[in-house]
Amino acid sequence: MSVRINPSILAADFVNLESEVRRIRSADLVHVDVMDNHFVPNLTFGPGTVQRLAEVSDIPLDVHLMIDDPDRWAPDHAEAGAYSVTFHAEAAADPVALARRLRSMGARAGIALKPGTPAEPYLDLLAEFDQVLVMTVEPGFGGQSFLESTMPKLRALRERVSGAGLDVWLQVDGGINEETIVTAARAGADTFVAGSSVFAGDPADRIASLRDAAASTHAH
Ligand code: DX5
Ligand code: ZN
Repeated sequence: MSVRINPSILAADFVNLESEVRRIRSADLVHVDVMDNHFVPNLTFGPGTVQRLAEVSDIPLDVHLMIDDPDRWAPDHAEAGAYSVTFHAEAAADPVALARRLRSMGARAGIALKPGTPAEPYLDLLAEFDQVLVMTVEPGFGGQSFLESTMPKLRALRERVSGAGLDVWLQVDGGINEETIVTAARAGADTFVAGSSVFAGDPADRIASLRDAAASTHAH
C-alpha cells in the first residue's frame, strides 16, 4: 500500500502561500482547507485562491471543503484546478450525484465524515468515491488532538475497501504527528493530512519522518 503525505496549508503563512507550497514540494499533495464560517466556525480560502495555488504549485491540490451547500460550490473548485475535491457528507444534499459531477469534470471525488458521523450509510456506495476522509478532530481548526475514537470507523472502511478490491484512498485529517500516524496507518489509512506538525519544523524533514513512520507500519 502506498503512503501519501498531504501537508495542510492551514498552518502555513497565508501571505506567502507561493513560497510555502515550494517548501512542501516533497509531499504528495497540498491539502487546502476551504471554510465558510457556516459549516465550521472559521473562514479561509475560496476558489480564487485555489486557482492561483493550482497554477503555482508543483504538486496537485487536495481540496477539503468545510462548507454548507457543497452541491453548489464543489464544482467551482474542480474548475479552479483542484486534483481532488472532498466535501462533507453532513453538508451534501446528494453525495453520489455530486461525486459523479466532480468525476465528470476530471477531479477525484472525496467524501468526508466528521468524528461523530458513522460510515455505515456509505459502505455500499464506496465505488462512487475516489477517497474517504475520516476526520480525526472536529473540523474547523488546526492544532487539535487526534481522536482515537475514530479508529473503529477507519477499520470498517479499510475492511470494506480491501474486501471489495476497491481503489479508494482512506485519508485521515487532524492531530497527525509521528506517533498518531502509526495508529492511523495500523487502522488502515494510506493518506495523511498534517498541518501543524509539518509547519512547526523544517517541512521537508517533517514530511520525510511522517512518511517513514507510516511506511514502516504498513510494512509489518
Ligand atoms: C481541520 C482541517 C485540517 C487541519 C489539520 O479542520 O481540516 O486539515 O489543517 O491541522 P493539524 O494537522 O494541525 O491538526
Ligand atoms: Zn482538512
